Amino acid sequence: MTAPSRSPFVKPDRLKTLANGVFAEMDAASRKARAAGVDVINLSIGSPDRAPAPHVIERLSAAVHDLGFYGYPMAAQPRFHEAVAKWYKARFGVDLDPGAEILGISGSQDGLAHLALAVTNPGDIVLVPDPGYPIYSAGPVMAGAVLYPVPLTEENGYLPDFDAIPEDIWRRAKVILLNYPSNPLAATADLAFFQRVVEVAHRRRMVVVHDAAYSELTFDGYRPPSFLQVPGAKEVGIEFNSLSKTFNMAGCRIGYAMGNPEVIKALGEVKGHLDFGIFRPVQEAAIAALEGPQEWVRENAATYQRRRDILVDGLAAAGWKMPKPKATMFCWAPIPETAGRPDSMRFALRLLEKTGIVIVPGIGFGERGEGYARLALVQSEERMAEAVQRFAASGMIG
Ligand SMILES: Cc1ncc(COP(=O)(O)O)c(C=O)c1O
Repeated sequence: MTAPSRSPFVKPDRLKTLANGVFAEMDAASRKARAAGVDVINLSIGSPDRAPAPHVIERLSAAVHDLGFYGYPMAAQPRFHEAVAKWYKARFGVDLDPGAEILGISGSQDGLAHLALAVTNPGDIVLVPDPGYPIYSAGPVMAGAVLYPVPLTEENGYLPDFDAIPEDIWRRAKVILLNYPSNPLAATADLAFFQRVVEVAHRRRMVVVHDAAYSELTFDGYRPPSFLQVPGAKEVGIEFNSLSKTFNMAGCRIGYAMGNPEVIKALGEVKGHLDFGIFRPVQEAAIAALEGPQEWVRENAATYQRRRDILVDGLAAAGWKMPKPKATMFCWAPIPETAGRPDSMRFALRLLEKTGIVIVPGIGFGERGEGYARLALVQSEERMAEAVQRFAASGMIG
């Protein structure tokens, strides 16, 4: 018999709400497989497996020898904000005031996690995509806001149907979160969609938050727009972007929010209580990435494109058809009928058992993710080809 706990700790309700059993269960299963000696192919987490460009690493390693960089960095360097402004102007034609319309953050996760603290009161409604990246829900929950999951369906091209949102929800909705190119759906949106978003946000007096983390991981010549390109966008919202995926700097933890100066200021005030800024050498590396040769970014995307082709074409030949994404590092696949229609969790666990491949069950991204699986393009071409062979031999997809 175990002795009763003497700890005064009682798990708060908030943490119970935040628990995402899907990721924890998949993580435990893959660690167990590894411990048992299985050669696991991890297609789950969207973490870049490749290094940043050499000039970025050189700048980072030179900067760590600058002894002036070891104090609290506090607010991001004006030079970092200026580099962001120049990059956004060159890439999207968007004008940004580096002093008032840009905020350096420790990755867009940081910004998304804390945004609701800056723009909502407890009880306000936040419209979140379903399926959607988990922090869009976790951030508002931590702030005591109320979630309204907006269904993203294949029939609607994975865009929200604004007319289907009830009037009483609109009345309490303070914020809408959007993400294109999207995780996990790999869906894209054009400028006409963002124009409609701006028009709706003006009419409904609602803050728009667009997460553009995958704006540069794009294939076959596709170039997505920024939400901020729409005239009037800055009056209603902000966009997040990040160095994580574009420049393979996920471990450095650096990103930025841009747009509406009041929202940027409010997020900066919240951040002022939370941390003392981004390690200066990381800011220096980010400036080098933003100001350096941008062909590197296209070549990096081409690597993901080759992996996508190996996976999607290989799996189609083996009998598992899924859309070929135009962007992101993900494929969003309907669970094959040959698997016997298990739920997405059971499919993923059985797949791991039979093949040693780890994927994410769609249910981990919201109710409407059920029936789907997310496969990340985060292994080399050789390992992607090996994964295809294992899928084909599993008897679960053909
Ligand atoms: C859509 C989306 N937004 C934000 C993030 C977090 O990015 P960052 O490393 O900038 O915090 C991720 C990471 O996977 C993501 O997929």
